[in-house]
Amino acid sequence: MIGHMYFPLLLQPTKSFPSALLSLLLVMAVHSSRTVSLSRSQNCGTPLQQSLKLTRLIHKESVELIRTYKASQGAMSELFCKSSSSEVPQPKISGLEPSERLLSVSSILQSFLPHLQRVLEQQTDLQSPSSRLLTELSNVRNRSASLASVISCLYQNLFPNLPAPEPAGGPTQMPPPQNIFQQKVYGCVVLRRFKDFLLNVARELRTLKSRVCRMPPANTLF
Ligand SMILES: *[C@@H]1O[C@H](CO)[C@@H](O)[C@H](O)[C@H]1NC(C)=O
Repeated sequence: MIGHMYFPLLLQPTKSFPSALLSLLLVMAVHSSRTVSLSRSQNCGTPLQQSLKLTRLIHKESVELIRTYKASQGAMSELFCKSSSSEVPQPKISGLEPSERLLSVSSILQSFLPHLQRVLEQQTDLQSPSSRLLTELSNVRNRSASLASVISCLYQNLFPNLPAPEPAGGPTQMPPPQNIFQQKVYGCVVLRRFKDFLLNVARELRTLKSRVCRMPPANTLF
């Protein structure tokens, strides 16, 4: 199933008859497995395209969100936004194989969700209910939860023979209770790392797309 991702690479060097035949067989295998995976993915739409679009959108919104965040934290926000915090997930995607890397994306994304939720809760106590920050935070949190589902779906589509990514609720390290200043620092670290992470995810999905989507569209071969 995974093999069809690399099909264009296999097809290129074929000139002689036996290898041309082999290519044809491969094409047929690819075609049929593709049909299967497409029907399998009907619930997900086109998850790769969808994930990439959603990732770019949330990245854009997170840039705006950080701006709003800084503006609403009062004096010195530029200063404390440079701090760090060990409890917040790192944005770096790991793994060698495409499947490992996508799994890494999925699990980092899952581990960011409770942090986004925590920041939203903390800021709900600090801001007036009508604040734009709360709307933007809530929006990014909601979209990120959707992205987590879409990525999980994408993973299952591309790698149907591997175990599905863990659902939310795994053991995520959360910070201990914080005073207001610590909350402001923490919020900024979460948002900044999350934004960096989204940039990495977009790059990752583009790479994945260039590998998967070089395939000719169905039906042009037959
Ligand atoms: C996010 O989702 C919650 C719960 O479903 C909803 O109440 C809230 O309005 C949503 N926020 C935005 C900005 O859409």
